Amino acid sequence: MNTEEIVQLCKAHTMYTWAKGSAVSPLPIERAEGIYFWTPDGKRYIDFNSQLMSVNIGHGHPKVREAIKRQVDELIFVMPGSATPVRARLGKMLADIVPDPINTFFFTLGGAEANENAIRAARMYTGRSKIISRYRSYHGATNATMQLTGDPRRWANEPGLPGVIRVMDPVPYNFSFGDDDASRTAANLTYLEEVINYENPNDIAAIFVETVTGTNGILAPPDGYLQGLRALCDKYGILLVCDEVMAGFGRTGKLFAFQHYGIVPDIVTMAKGLTSSYLPLGAMGVSDAIAKHFQDNVFYGGLTYNSHPMLLAAAEANLQVLLEEGMIENAARLESVARSEMDRLKAKHPSVKEGRAIGLFGMMDLRKNAAGEPMAPYNGTSPAMEELKKAFNERGLFTFVRWHSFMCNPPLCITEEQLREAYAIIDDCLDITDRYFEA
Ligand SMILES: Cc1ncc(COP(=O)(O)O)c(C=O)c1O
Repeated sequence: MNTEEIVQLCKAHTMYTWAKGSAVSPLPIERAEGIYFWTPDGKRYIDFNSQLMSVNIGHGHPKVREAIKRQVDELIFVMPGSATPVRARLGKMLADIVPDPINTFFFTLGGAEANENAIRAARMYTGRSKIISRYRSYHGATNATMQLTGDPRRWANEPGLPGVIRVMDPVPYNFSFGDDDASRTAANLTYLEEVINYENPNDIAAIFVETVTGTNGILAPPDGYLQGLRALCDKYGILLVCDEVMAGFGRTGKLFAFQHYGIVPDIVTMAKGLTSSYLPLGAMGVSDAIAKHFQDNVFYGGLTYNSHPMLLAAAEANLQVLLEEGMIENAARLESVARSEMDRLKAKHPSVKEGRAIGLFGMMDLRKNAAGEPMAPYNGTSPAMEELKKAFNERGLFTFVRWHSFMCNPPLCITEEQLREAYAIIDDCLDITDRYFEA
């Protein structure tokens, strides 16, 4: 098949996510290695979004490929009620590396299912039904996780699961809880406690947060916020669930983002970087107290592919690579390079409003005037952003351009030189948005 046929058949017979079929223009991809991928015509792209912020160790790592092949020869699938060597090894490995008291894991096929099961576990454990989540969030595309999701992808999926209360983030989209971290944290926690009391604290099972908000802004929490949230949860017997599907496995420069803030949630959910997307796997990790509850009470949840040996083998090898090759440290070290590049671009280009990075989790926002009005509206686009997207594509830089922002999330194996090369491409392309800046 030539490239054109591949694209045509994919469009004719398969549905694309979050899109109107007639409007998609899928990128044909033939192979991938490290931070790069190539089209069938040999055009090379820098993967500046790790595909879906998920290929943390980079593409095609030989150790993970080998582990998957070995598992094919050893044992491909057995039912979830089995005990297998790879399940034993990965369970123990996760218990060793995830902070205490989280030592027990339930495996799923992705992030949404991890969150679904976290909702279920929280309700069964507490005997309460309501869940609090935040507007600037994405938690998955299943029915329940769509309702937890704050962003506009929820709208067409409503109404859904009852009992979800969405609250403002410490950093809302269009107004401010304060100008500094201390006031933002204090104001948001006061507001949150008021909501908890209006909703009946005895009926709230859990609060779900993306520890560092991903798609909706790469927003690290203000100082003191997560500690305050942990304390509020403890005060009212509410479980804290940290969704680390995107922020976990080294993306922020630590294994889990919550480790930056000296707290441990009751439940952590993970996916993406757990296998670097080599195979689809998610997991819910629960505290010893919750695990004990489900020693004595049935966990009413299950999946045909729970603890699928192939997926677990990919995770085991991926985690070995992530840890042994120092990729988490690399992400932490390159944060300052990413920030200095963003600062340089902001100083040079009037259309740059702001850049943010924690580890190699980053985003740049663009503005159309000195007042800081976004270059595209909330949930919309603009000619400037469309042209920018086209220019990135032409220059061989793959990333997500969303609303008035674009993502800066390369694989964690990237070198400083490669990172600077990517920002040099961005630098050139930002001349386009500068032309739309209304001086
Ligand atoms: C924070 C977060 N939670 C959950 C999910 C859903 O994961 P999945 O697409 O694997 O179901 C995502 C996916 O992007 C995510 O970013």
